[in-house]
Amino acid sequence: MHVGILTGGGDCPGLNAVIRAVTLALINECGARVTGIERGFLGLVARQVRPLDSAAVIDILAQGGTILGTHNRCDPFHYFGEGGADVSARTLAYARELGLDALVAIGGDGTMAIAERLSRLGLPVVGVPKTIDNDLYLTDRSFGFDSAVAVVCESLDRLATTARSHGRVMIAETMGRYAGWIALEAGIAGAADVILIPELPYRLDALAALCLRRQSSPGHTLICIAEGAHAAGGDLVVSRTVAGSPDPIRLGGVGALLAQQLQPLLDSEVRCTLLGHVQRGGQPTAFDRVLATQFGWAAAQRVKAGQFGRMVALQGADIVDVALADVAGRNRLVPPDHALLQAARSLGIFLG
Ligand code: F6P
Repeated sequence: MHVGILTGGGDCPGLNAVIRAVTLALINECGARVTGIERGFLGLVARQVRPLDSAAVIDILAQGGTILGTHNRCDPFHYFGEGGADVSARTLAYARELGLDALVAIGGDGTMAIAERLSRLGLPVVGVPKTIDNDLYLTDRSFGFDSAVAVVCESLDRLATTARSHGRVMIAETMGRYAGWIALEAGIAGAADVILIPELPYRLDALAALCLRRQSSPGHTLICIAEGAHAAGGDLVVSRTVAGSPDPIRLGGVGALLAQQLQPLLDSEVRCTLLGHVQRGGQPTAFDRVLATQFGWAAAQRVKAGQFGRMVALQGADIVDVALADVAGRNRLVPPDHALLQAARSLGIFLG
């Protein structure tokens, strides 16, 4: 059996742990030949692959990023390198030429959507859900999320010391795209006084009134805002567009905007920290290493059983698999009645 592995979309802690688990499980359980596809789907389009053996993956569990490299713009159905041409037939032909019996595609919703289309055209694919945003449909967790939350939590702990010492309003802006999972979980873990997420548009006047009240006691306010958060009736703040990407809009800057809007209304100084790609970097947490390993092993089992067009997923405590067709093109947002929102409100955390 010959199996290809690729990592697509943004990098994420735990990618190497999945590559390791898939490779070792397939080699140890059935003597498979494993090939790493470099830089996501670009490796299949531009014919960049390399063999993966046990020695290549044995020491990579704790390494951040991806040893295979990745690409966030390469969609074989709209190839950026050839003016948006559909090169899917050539991509599939190369996979056949390599003699791939299966492809394990590790990525977020963009990668799963491409994997699903290739799978409909006959490529035997198993998907593995990756994203720090935790917004992939039908899985309770994607690996990488826990690591990002840990970084944001530590950042909030650090920002809180300046908030307290200077009596300031400190704003931390997280990633997360259109979902508030990172800001919500990290905001709770990092004792934020205010958590602003895209799913609950905020009222600037109510937020300013809260910060004003807190100026006298306790003297400071710690705000955790998701990049996709916006004022009621306001627009998303876009930092740039990435031409040719399956998801061209990049959010960012809402924290700085909020600081600008709040400052004239308050006596306290307001500062904003954009956490950015720090959230995606570095080593995976122990939780993400275990989840990535479970996902990788489960993907190898689906490959061995010939169960294709599926994505492995965590539902409750169980690793299951779901149809790629049910995942592609959908996102998992924070539901308005989520238990963490109820707990946050009850604890007096301002949610907008
Ligand atoms: O989807 C992961 C993510 O890190 C988002 O949270 C963020 O909006 C985006 O990717 C950033 O993308 P890029 O690395 O292209 O700036």
